[in-house]
Amino acid sequence: MKPTGYMTIQRHILEGESQHPEATGEFSSLLTDLALAAKIISLEVNKAGLVDILGLTGNKNVHGEKVKKLDMFAHETLLKSMEYGGHFCVMASEEEQDIIHIPEQHQIGKYVLLFDPLDGSSNIDVNVSIGTIFSIYKRVSPDGQPGTLEDCLQKGTEQVAAGYVLYGSSTMMVYTTGEDVYGFTLDPAFGEFLLSHEKIQIPKKGNIYSLNEGNYKYWRPGLKRYIKYLQDVEDLNGQPYSARYIGSLVADIHRNLMYGGIFIYPADKRRPTGKLRLMYECNPMAMIVEAAGGRASDGMNRILEIQPESLHQSEPLYIGSEHDVTLVEKFLREEEELIRFTEEAKSQS
Ligand code: AHG
Ligand code: MN
Ligand code: MN
Repeated sequence: MKPTGYMTIQRHILEGESQHPEATGEFSSLLTDLALAAKIISLEVNKAGLVDILGLTGNKNVHGEKVKKLDMFAHETLLKSMEYGGHFCVMASEEEQDIIHIPEQHQIGKYVLLFDPLDGSSNIDVNVSIGTIFSIYKRVSPDGQPGTLEDCLQKGTEQVAAGYVLYGSSTMMVYTTGEDVYGFTLDPAFGEFLLSHEKIQIPKKGNIYSLNEGNYKYWRPGLKRYIKYLQDVEDLNGQPYSARYIGSLVADIHRNLMYGGIFIYPADKRRPTGKLRLMYECNPMAMIVEAAGGRASDGMNRILEIQPESLHQSEPLYIGSEHDVTLVEKFLREEEELIRFTEEAKSQS
């Protein structure tokens, strides 16, 4: 639905919170701080082609991947913007191995923040859309103390809010507190996020699939069959599905949220648990897509119900329109059944 009039993100958050009986204003202030960090990162992303910020720092992140300067800038900007507010007891970032404590001089709050500061970093140097992803929980450890690893390792169902910022042809912030999904577009002239997408709903079925097809030879047979099916099927408009893959999770999922379709980063022979991180990528995106009426699965189970065991664990991800995710699960289940059937036949012969 297209909103009318100018609704800034601050006013929207405040009005949303005032409808909750236990509203304290704290949650609004926290999301406002996040919007500020998003504006700072957006400004830097837009300057990336102009200043000498490109190139590798020479470091690798905890996943052994090369870290670019803008990743670190985004990571540090988020820390700086969020630690002062007094809202969080602990944070965790894709770019840091361990949990991040709030510096002693700052107040400790009741929320937990997890983030992927810059998603799609292989696209930075080539002016292709990238993003930031965040996930917020309430602490489970006692108030007033520094937060713990346990606060960070909660199931995705416990998220109280999640969102992403897309640095694309314009900068957008999309967030949910579980009920509806809202999108705000940054007006670069006066630096405000304005409500541009109200109550986003993902189409029940799409005609786009996005995954890295270069990994085809490593896929399991059920996935190969599913993708072949999408290429053979005649859709409502008499055409097969379209393939679209940017290589930035935020941008790929944002497009599918608008148009419908499925995004997949599967487990395969090389990566038995997939590539995307449960805490920084899968869970927040799953919360958003579910709130928009879609589904997110690891191929068998709901992403949001996975009990995390470590901060940086990865999970396979099948996410998007309800129909499309349900269909791929059927192909994967059928594969399991075929394997079981063949094993049984072997053992009986
Ligand atoms: P990040 O830049 O935060 O490490 O994330 C990159 C992720 C994700 O954005 C994208 O969907 C995926 O990596 C692309 O992986 P492939 O290059 O293996 O397709
Ligand atoms: Mn990422
Ligand atoms: Mn990242």
